Amino acid sequence: MKKLINLLMVLALILSGCNTSKMYKKNEYKAFQPIQTNVPVRPKGQKHVLGLTVPKIETVRVGFIGLGMRGPGAVNRFTNIPGTEIVALCDIYPERVENTQKILEKAGFPRAAEYSGSEDAWKKLCERDDIDLVYIVTDWKNHADMMIYAMEHGKHVACEVPAAMTLDEIWRVINTAEKTQKHCIQLENCVYDFFELTTLNMAQKGLFGEILHAEGAYIHNLAEFWDYYEGDWRMEFNKEFRGDVYATHGMGPACQVLDIHRGDKMNYLVSMDNKPVNIPEYLIEKRGLSPDSAYDFQNGQNTMTIIRTENGKTMHIQHDVSSPRPYSRMYQVSGSKGFAQKYPIEGYALDGNELKDGNPDLENLSSHAFVSNDVKNELMEKYKHPIHQELEEIAKKVGGHGGMDFIMDYRLVYCLQNGLPLDMDVYDLAEWCCLADLGRISIENNSAPVAIPDFTRGHWNDIKGYRHAFVK
Ligand SMILES: NC(=O)c1ccc[n+]([C@@H]2O[C@H](COP(=O)([O-])OP(=O)(O)OC[C@H]3O[C@@H](n4cnc5c(N)ncnc54)[C@H](O)[C@@H]3O)[C@@H](O)[C@H]2O)c1
Repeated sequence: MKKLINLLMVLALILSGCNTSKMYKKNEYKAFQPIQTNVPVRPKGQKHVLGLTVPKIETVRVGFIGLGMRGPGAVNRFTNIPGTEIVALCDIYPERVENTQKILEKAGFPRAAEYSGSEDAWKKLCERDDIDLVYIVTDWKNHADMMIYAMEHGKHVACEVPAAMTLDEIWRVINTAEKTQKHCIQLENCVYDFFELTTLNMAQKGLFGEILHAEGAYIHNLAEFWDYYEGDWRMEFNKEFRGDVYATHGMGPACQVLDIHRGDKMNYLVSMDNKPVNIPEYLIEKRGLSPDSAYDFQNGQNTMTIIRTENGKTMHIQHDVSSPRPYSRMYQVSGSKGFAQKYPIEGYALDGNELKDGNPDLENLSSHAFVSNDVKNELMEKYKHPIHQELEEIAKKVGGHGGMDFIMDYRLVYCLQNGLPLDMDVYDLAEWCCLADLGRISIENNSAPVAIPDFTRGHWNDIKGYRHAFVK
């Protein structure tokens, strides 16, 4: 009798539990319908650019726009990539063009054509008929218009991060890429970092089981840099906009490991920020602004965004450019069988039961702690990505954030030369940049959920799994 009562109680619990969870899901959906934004209909006859390939470009002829702090480094890197021609250089300031010509001269390259002296000189560069790729390294305000103009003039484009700042810019860039069938790539370098790319390879080989959660961030105190951005564009942008305005370094590696728009898609996000303190104080102390003016500042000191995907995965992305914190991209990948973390110390934790034949060394593995440094190094060697196997040595020599900038440029040229799809497409650009505008909407609505559009407009599940392209 006692057994029967117990059994009935358990059954009742199970049934009530089932009901509650069913009810809860239903109610949750109704009560928290995410805020929707406008998704423009794809114009008739226009095709998506997933997996886009174009005929091989044996010698990639490049024009660079924007030669401030970052641009000349890119030109220098290109002098180290075989099969490229640096055709034209552009900046508003002629002295910046001249300084960059010196990089070419030093590398034994011919001087490039020059464009400067006006805010519109870059258009002439885009209109040339001897350029394949326009490489944009200007401030954020110019990116979208420059990319669109370049594509409309028959060029492929590569643009520094973030390549688009608003949903309107994002959709205009997507539509132009689809209309012109040109490559449109955002120059996200962190996806080529040695830890991130090795970890991606481990994840793709199943070492972490099913990946359920990924984190990323841009945490970098920019106090030393604020005064050097041309015309104060970065401060101005942060002053005007809430939301994660520089999300791509965190989003890139997180989205790749979660196969975003290659079998999964981001459904909605929730953003929250706190009040800005250090930048207003900086503006008062260093620039003599009145407190009223300095505290009239939109971007939060910390901006946090959480994302949920169609396949039930999550992401957490942060932005903080003013707190006295150590640099961090917060990169973490958490799966059913393992975990990877880059900051503050690099490490891997694995569920040792899944490993066979003592390789890697089972004795040193624990699912509750990082594997020893020796095992970590062994794993990183074993799972070194083919891109790193080929390029690590030269990348470290040429440099650019420890080599990842060189790998980014090299891969771009390699794919163009071989007629392969690029490592990143215009939908990556859209997904990694959309946290600025969508996060702002969430924050301005008390952190309400905001729907993340399917930027592929119906094709997020066509490609199964993110992979780099190689010549067979
Ligand atoms: N991926 C990375 O790790 C990384 C690192 C630093 C900067 N960035 C990005 O690179 C870009 C440039 O940053 P920066 O630090 O070099 O800024 P910067 O202000 O030093 O340089 C921008 C340059 O663009 C030029 N410019 C502006 N408008 C122009 C126009 N209409 N025509 C021609 N030239 C024009 C300016 O004169 C200036 O020389 C930004 O998008 C930034 O976010 C990326």
